[in-house]
Amino acid sequence: MEWTKKERYKKIDDVSSAYMTELRKKVDEGPYRQTFHIQPKTGLLNDPNGFSYYNGQYHLFYQWFPLGPVHGVKYWYHMVSNNLVDWEDKGIALSPDTKYDSHGVFSGTGFVKDDQLHLFYTGNTRTENWKRIPYQCHAVMGKDNNIKKSQKPLIIDSPEGYTDNFRDPKIIEQNGYYYCIIGAETSNHEGAIVYYVSDDLEKWTYQQAIELKGNITSENQGFMWECPDYFELDNHGVLLFSPQGMTEKGDKYQNIYQSGYLLGNPLDFTKGVFHVTEDFTELDRGFDFYAPQTMTDPNGRQLLVGWLGLPGVDCVTDEFGWAHCLTILREISLKNGKIYQKPVPELALLRGKKNTVEIELENEVVIVNQFSARTYELQASFTNITGQYVGLSFRMGDKEVTNFYYDRVEKKLVFDRGQSGETSTAEFGTLRKCDFSEEELQIQLFMDESSVEIFVNDGLEVFTSRLYSQVDQNQIQFYAKGHAIVTATQWEIG
Ligand code: FRU
Repeated sequence: MEWTKKERYKKIDDVSSAYMTELRKKVDEGPYRQTFHIQPKTGLLNDPNGFSYYNGQYHLFYQWFPLGPVHGVKYWYHMVSNNLVDWEDKGIALSPDTKYDSHGVFSGTGFVKDDQLHLFYTGNTRTENWKRIPYQCHAVMGKDNNIKKSQKPLIIDSPEGYTDNFRDPKIIEQNGYYYCIIGAETSNHEGAIVYYVSDDLEKWTYQQAIELKGNITSENQGFMWECPDYFELDNHGVLLFSPQGMTEKGDKYQNIYQSGYLLGNPLDFTKGVFHVTEDFTELDRGFDFYAPQTMTDPNGRQLLVGWLGLPGVDCVTDEFGWAHCLTILREISLKNGKIYQKPVPELALLRGKKNTVEIELENEVVIVNQFSARTYELQASFTNITGQYVGLSFRMGDKEVTNFYYDRVEKKLVFDRGQSGETSTAEFGTLRKCDFSEEELQIQLFMDESSVEIFVNDGLEVFTSRLYSQVDQNQIQFYAKGHAIVTATQWEIG
């Protein structure tokens, strides 16, 4: 079918239940459905939203267009968990049903205050002439998980000097005041983050754009910064956002859009100046990662979840009526001026049958026949490394192979999905690399039906990607050009 504007702006109530049943069947019967990732039951999922801990549970929402694998009029869909692993489906949380969000309940965040979960989001609207007017809106969820939208938007349109690309509010509390940061595009088409102040979460006053000073290159910042987030770790400020329009530079910024962070001194919102100490660093080195958001949980952990997908590109599963999923949950920390990301330890709950091998590699390739699972967690440590490269192949068989290795000559980690099976984004290349020069290589890899997340050396680097391989391509092998000792464990999942 052709996704005309009319079709994209149909709401779920505008289609018959037979349409939804048919679509659901197509999704369920198609390949590549995930086993332990949050995925849409039909249609398209994009950004995680409203990630919070409230009333004794984790709440996670996501952007959803129910009717097909395209960016149509967005809803918020609600998932709840006690352990960040098992997610209960709570259905639609916010629908595009008011004049302030008629063309989409766009992204936003959660904020707990006075025993309520406050949800802040962008109401996307279009006039008859298709002029966009963004509203920053508010809703409140109580302990019964019922959500009530506020009658009036909090912020109408964008301030002078900014285009209608103005969205994705996030609330930060500092010294008794609330600050709302918003992703923006200036009239000169530069990415920016602006903020408002409030003392009651209701009346908001425009302040300014966050002023960036210090170690930051002003060129190559892109035209629009989406999904801003700000938090502090070990007395440093972290400004996280997803810039659109950066040009690629060596190994960097190879995906259609980026997401990453600036590190700096703690941001004083009464002044609005962010002194940057570390320039923009991509959070993820893989092919499919965007629009992450974080929250602090009751144990003081800073948790992160991202969209395991990207805007503006097709998805292999489009033909089966759905697209994209969320990442597994990560815990982030700061070490040596860099964000480290580790899968949350709760993911060990997924572990099933276990196999361990130890191999001494000497200029050879060793297939591990014991590792035969389709979906799994794999931990592998490469020690005593000498020579040119060490690595592994997975999702391998007579037709396909995916490679991840440490090139010690180039001093890089390399992820190669050139022969990984189906793809819809080959135009963006099939290799991803990043600098790496550690003595040892530790890998923690989560392989779901159609995605892989590879955490390297305790979260120093992460490569996140969709992989659409055939069902019988499940071999794993380790190799070294040179020498290495490999200890590896595979836990079946699912
Ligand atoms: C990021 C984004 C957000 C927006 C949402 C709409 O992927 O473009 O900026 O709020 O998606 O679905």
